[in-house]
Amino acid sequence: MNQVLLYCRAGFEKDCAAEIQQKTTDMGVYGFPRVVNHSAYVLFECYQEGDAERVVRDLPLDSLIFARQMIAITASLSELDPDDRISPILAVGEHLPKGGDLRVETPDNDEAKALLKFCRKFTVPLRQALRKKGVLLAKDNPKKPVIHVCFTAPGTCLIGYSLTTNNSPHYMGLPRMKFPADAPSRSTLKLEEAFHHFIPKQEWETRLAPGMWAVDLGASPGGWTYQLVKRSMFVHAVDNGAMDEQLMETGQVFHHAEDGFKFEPTRKNVTWLVCDMIEKPSRVAQLMGEWLIEGWAKEAIFNLKLPMSRRYEQVTENLDTLGAFLDDYNVAYEMRAKHLYHDREEITVHLRRVKRQR
Ligand SMILES: C[S@@+](CC[C@H](N)C(=O)[O-])C[C@H]1O[C@@H](n2cnc3c(N)ncnc32)[C@H](O)[C@@H]1O
Repeated sequence: MNQVLLYCRAGFEKDCAAEIQQKTTDMGVYGFPRVVNHSAYVLFECYQEGDAERVVRDLPLDSLIFARQMIAITASLSELDPDDRISPILAVGEHLPKGGDLRVETPDNDEAKALLKFCRKFTVPLRQALRKKGVLLAKDNPKKPVIHVCFTAPGTCLIGYSLTTNNSPHYMGLPRMKFPADAPSRSTLKLEEAFHHFIPKQEWETRLAPGMWAVDLGASPGGWTYQLVKRSMFVHAVDNGAMDEQLMETGQVFHHAEDGFKFEPTRKNVTWLVCDMIEKPSRVAQLMGEWLIEGWAKEAIFNLKLPMSRRYEQVTENLDTLGAFLDDYNVAYEMRAKHLYHDREEITVHLRRVKRQR
């Protein structure tokens, strides 16, 4: 087998496929993606032996917008006997690297609910059998590859592995987050997920520190502001819409009923700019660039609305234009974009001003 399995949001398979095709070509790996609409996964077939391994090792998952997980496939099984699904999986186990963990999964599509119950039940006996055979280490080891058995139908599965240095740590590539009962809107989870995704936990103390100032453009009713307030920051919330009263009562929020495209901070003390205005992506990207160029904020997290078609191509164009704009002004930056679990028709971008390397 010489395939790479990528999980994505159902309905975004073509975008995930366009992206993996482009990124593999860039690294000199040739192949083609197999796409089934609404399957929530893409299978990329590499032409050259060993290339699937290369992709999961050398292509950073972080550099992909639409893929939630990336797995090198070593075997594919179908028509498994319901009385003994384990033996055929063990029989192909020799093609796997020694694993430190096992995830029996299914892509996050319409059939997932029904299959998940089985996956969970099947995990325990399969783990025992794989350990006995030496395919899995006797104890979980977070440094060793993760073995994935992905059921795409009741008797059909793909078997492979991901590397912990280049995978999503989450089961099915999906972070689980609890909606905080006192948050004013569900979109609060989008910013929370973005913080988890883009900011390494060990840097939270310095980069998401209490007492920092933030600006939230398109803040009403306050789901994103809530995340900042929760971290003891002070927030300029910009929106003609009303802000949640409880948030206002904290004394940490300053509401500006203004146009987010015209708002300018009066002091240069802002660390974070966040923006959830539903607007033309090119306009939002340009605005974010202006803020960084002016030095009005150090880091930004913002949404870019996805177009109806050629989503990968167009979003890449927006990001490239933003990058070129920052280059023109000699601003060194880091930029990453992801179609997060809580994103639907938009992606989330993290942009950070950095010191230029000498
Ligand atoms: C998706 S909602 C934001 C939800 C918010 N992030 C939350 O978590 O509660 C988009 C908001 O952007 C605001 N908006 C759209 N265009 C704007 C503009 N030009 N200036 C300021 N706010 C704008 C809308 O009023 C709306 O409240």
